[in-house]
Amino acid sequence: MNKYIGIVGTNTQRSTNRQLLQFMERHYQDQAEIELVEVAGLPMFNKPADRVIPDRAAEIGKKIDESDGVIISTPEYDHAVPAVLMNALEWLSYGIHPFLDKPVMIIGASFGSLGTSRAQAHLRQMLDAPELGARIMPSSEYLLGHVLEAFDKDGNLNDQGRIDRLDALFADFEEFVKISKELWHTTEYDKQEISKLDKTDFGSN
Ligand SMILES: Cc1cc2nc3c(=O)[nH]c(=O)nc-3n(C[C@H](O)[C@H](O)[C@H](O)COP(=O)(O)O)c2cc1C
Repeated sequence: MNKYIGIVGTNTQRSTNRQLLQFMERHYQDQAEIELVEVAGLPMFNKPADRVIPDRAAEIGKKIDESDGVIISTPEYDHAVPAVLMNALEWLSYGIHPFLDKPVMIIGASFGSLGTSRAQAHLRQMLDAPELGARIMPSSEYLLGHVLEAFDKDGNLNDQGRIDRLDALFADFEEFVKISKELWHTTEYDKQEISKLDKTDFGSN
């Protein structure tokens, strides 16, 4: 059984994106283990001169490193990802690079009709940066619009069509994770490039 990290892309306490990941954790529990990880509470990224990253960032990095893949659920604020998620990704690409070649599935929930389409495109662009270097599942989006009507009182998605679509996407993700394990030929080169970037960019605060 694969183990995935589900990153809650917000620090909002009552979050529909957290609710979506919690639903997935329960719904797929016979197929995969999904551990939810919060990115709230990290200090603002500032390229610390001592090069030491916060313990919490290191802890999240280790969890990602040890996982088979990552699912990120992002809200959309002003057509982008929330600052708290961007901040976490900055810490997770400074001296540590747990996303390198890690399979990632992007999902998102929003109150309006577009369901975070722009935030997901934004996140995809960020995860493609060399310092992150994730293997983002191609041609896939899960846009949960009008999310305030999407869950029943037990926190389950209340529309079978939306569940079927998520099931199909998750099945594809499990295949993508398998295929990604074969895509290792560039890993060493990418690590060397990142190590060069780390040396030039470290500790300039
Ligand atoms: C400052 C702010 C900006 C927002 N901008 C957008 C936006 O650009 N697109 C969108 O679909 N929803 C936007 N929303 C509404 C979010 O879709 C809604 O707050 C979302 O569900 C948050 O996710 P959460 O339930 O996980 O907190 C915005 C909300 C706030 C507070």
